[in-house]
Amino acid sequence: MYNELINKETKLSVIGLGYVGLPIALEFARKIKVVGFDIKPDRVELMKKGIDPSNELRPEAFNGTDILYTSNPEDLKQASFHIVAVPTPTNVYNLPDLTPLLKATETVGKILKKGDYVVYESTVYPGCTEEDCVPVLERFSKLKYLRDFKVGFSPERINPGDQNHTLTRIVKVTSGCDPVSAEEIAKVYEIIIQAGVYRASSIKVAESAKIIENTQRDINIAFMNELSIIFNRMGINTFEVLEAAGTKWNFLKFYPGLVGGHCIGVDPYYLSYKAKALGYHPHMIDSGRFTNDSMGRYIGKQTVKKIIAKGTNPNNSRVLVMGMTFKENVTDIRNSKVIDVIKELTDFGISVDVIDPGASPHEVKEEYGIDLKKGPEGKYDAVILAVCHKEYMGIGEEYFTPLLNDQGIVVDVKGVLRGKIHNHTYWSL
Ligand SMILES: NC(=O)c1ccc[n+]([C@@H]2O[C@H](COP(=O)([O-])OP(=O)(O)OC[C@H]3O[C@@H](n4cnc5c(N)ncnc54)[C@H](O)[C@@H]3O)[C@@H](O)[C@H]2O)c1
Repeated sequence: MYNELINKETKLSVIGLGYVGLPIALEFARKIKVVGFDIKPDRVELMKKGIDPSNELRPEAFNGTDILYTSNPEDLKQASFHIVAVPTPTNVYNLPDLTPLLKATETVGKILKKGDYVVYESTVYPGCTEEDCVPVLERFSKLKYLRDFKVGFSPERINPGDQNHTLTRIVKVTSGCDPVSAEEIAKVYEIIIQAGVYRASSIKVAESAKIIENTQRDINIAFMNELSIIFNRMGINTFEVLEAAGTKWNFLKFYPGLVGGHCIGVDPYYLSYKAKALGYHPHMIDSGRFTNDSMGRYIGKQTVKKIIAKGTNPNNSRVLVMGMTFKENVTDIRNSKVIDVIKELTDFGISVDVIDPGASPHEVKEEYGIDLKKGPEGKYDAVILAVCHKEYMGIGEEYFTPLLNDQGIVVDVKGVLRGKIHNHTYWSL
């Protein structure tokens, strides 16, 4: 497979050209022939013009690439090595929703040929690739797994908004369904990954590695959030505590905050689901999820308490929320926990304005029914710095003073304004 690809006798396809799929497709397309497939024709049209619909890549990323963008599944027949990078979300019950993954697998199954490889990059629970996806591939291709086609798993570790840890600079974990495929898949990724490839011993090990990376972060952040709730009752600033504790060589550097997005806030639910299916209730994982999922409402409630404590009726008060995306320096608003802060405030009858330097007003309206403001409008009873976009770094008291009423409150979710607010009530996690 590696030789055929490198000699350009066959093509590599990427199914799902989002945050993960498009960078991979473009990177391979600098070295070998690529078919990039997505079900959304409007996204495909943008990519044909050298525009990343996810707003992560610069136009230069499209230069010098040999890639066919398509939403026609027939075009996938030109490829023999297929990479699946479609979303793996959870449903309203926080259970895995495999619909996009299985639909994409069906698409691949219909064009699969003898000798083809299918590698999954979508984050899944251990066992999903072979237990859920392989049967679909077999059913739609009428081919036999291991004998006629090979499968692998290679998790994606990119971190949205991170310009340093980019695809080629992160060690890539790869795996295959037998020793030959494991080696071929590793060699194919070595074509593009400068940081090197780690050959996991099995597909399940590779699936598990990815899911625990994010679950570990979720649990550690949940611990910080719990500490923040405890220290708040004691009148101690958590960030000051963490700074002091962080001087010990083996203290882990995690911070309290909102955990949203489609990775850290979602992946632990996949692991928890699988554990429960096997008869084990994962208390620690679920507890971490519960704590982190409660933080938006908690921040909202703390803000309301402070407003009431000033003698202001929440019904007559106004709050400005700065930042709507799920994390700093991205435009992605999906699964942003800022909405929980806003909901808590509006439940108390507070009028809330929301601003964000990068989020699309259209998407925010569609997803959350909120009209993003271009900027602050008038005076507020509290301003919540919810997401620390680079545009908000460096602001201090002088920014907030004109925006706040006499009794105004600054809520600093990530503690970045610590020591900078002297003339207003200040609160952080
Ligand atoms: N975004 C990240 O930073 C990141 C990091 C590591 C892992 N992951 C994982 O990678 C996977 C993909 O995530 P993403 O952020 O790239 O998602 P995304 O929503 O940005 O992109 C997914 C793309 O797949 C397309 N798609 C959906 N269903 C399809 C189908 N049936 N056939 C073809 N295309 C289809 C969509 O139109 C979209 O363009 C998920 O499992 C995610 O957990 C994401």
